[in-house]
Amino acid sequence: MTRIYFNEVVTRDGFQIEPEFIATDAKVALIDALSLCGYAKIEATSFVSPKAIPMLRDAEEVMGRITRAPEVEYTVLVPNLRGAERALESKADELNLVMSTSETHNRANLRMGREQSFAALAEVVRHVDGRTPINVSLSTAFGCPMEGDVPEAEVVQFAERFAGLGVRGLTICDTTGMAHPGQVAHMVETLQQRVKGVQLTLHFHNTRGMGLANLLAAVQGGIVRFDGSLGGLGGCPYAPGASGNICSEDAVHMLHAMGYDTGMDLPRLLSVARGLPYIVGHDVPGQVAKAGLITDLHPAPQAQ
Ligand code: COA
Ligand code: ZN
Repeated sequence: MTRIYFNEVVTRDGFQIEPEFIATDAKVALIDALSLCGYAKIEATSFVSPKAIPMLRDAEEVMGRITRAPEVEYTVLVPNLRGAERALESKADELNLVMSTSETHNRANLRMGREQSFAALAEVVRHVDGRTPINVSLSTAFGCPMEGDVPEAEVVQFAERFAGLGVRGLTICDTTGMAHPGQVAHMVETLQQRVKGVQLTLHFHNTRGMGLANLLAAVQGGIVRFDGSLGGLGGCPYAPGASGNICSEDAVHMLHAMGYDTGMDLPRLLSVARGLPYIVGHDVPGQVAKAGLITDLHPAPQAQ
């Protein structure tokens, strides 16, 4: 059965929208626990402006203190050259550059137009010069909460231009949960035809309850790499109405039930997930951590 690879984004996408600062110790302990769960990759933090995302102002300390598992790649979000320098210094295994395919969201999130972002990120790729693999995340690729539709052709055009720069991977992000499975099926078919030789990852948010349906559409379309967030936390503070990513443990549970190999230790993952509400101080959207596995049976009620 097909092997599916998961990238855990809870300490980046998950935490960046949390209102209360999460202590560095708690972030490090959580990443260390997640490192033993079978992930292919963990997006540990962001090297962005601490004014833009105060939650992740401790990025250097987090990267310096985590215990790295040899089989896990530790990636970090990078918005500009300054972020790339910080990421290289911290010995990240991958730099995840980011820009939005919607002009309006790009201006809200990164304070510049798309063409300016593309030029700046192309400069980062040249500067890194193969020292560390580069992934590029294209945000709002399935719709923008301010502009509405983002034409597939524009997403593909940016994907092709980054592939032309020699990046290793591209992540196609549904930043505010606007994608539906039909749209996903079409997008992944087009992208696989047009950008060959690049690792494609899909990043979904469950804002409108379509997250796992979208994941399944992508799996059925041949995609094997996904971002997920523990407990279903997440969201971009610069995208109105943003809410959580697809929940990693719910996605893994569904794929295991269907017979897919994810390499994940689901019982261990669930036990880490059950600790998450204590870290963030509130309930989280994930469902399987509450309901149990489909194989966890209950005793029949006593006959009256
Ligand atoms: N790391 C740390 N500090 C950074 C930085 C980085 N990568 N990039 C810029 N800064 C600092 C500058 O030094 C400057 O600091 P100062 O005010 O103390 O002098 C300040 O941030 C503003 O710098 P400037 O170059 O004018 O950037 P900006 O204000 O136009 O912001 C970004 C641009 C991209 C740096 C900022 O919008 C950002 O970090 N966005 C990321 C948003 C995000 O993570 N969204 C969610 C994930 S998609
Ligand atoms: Zn996201």
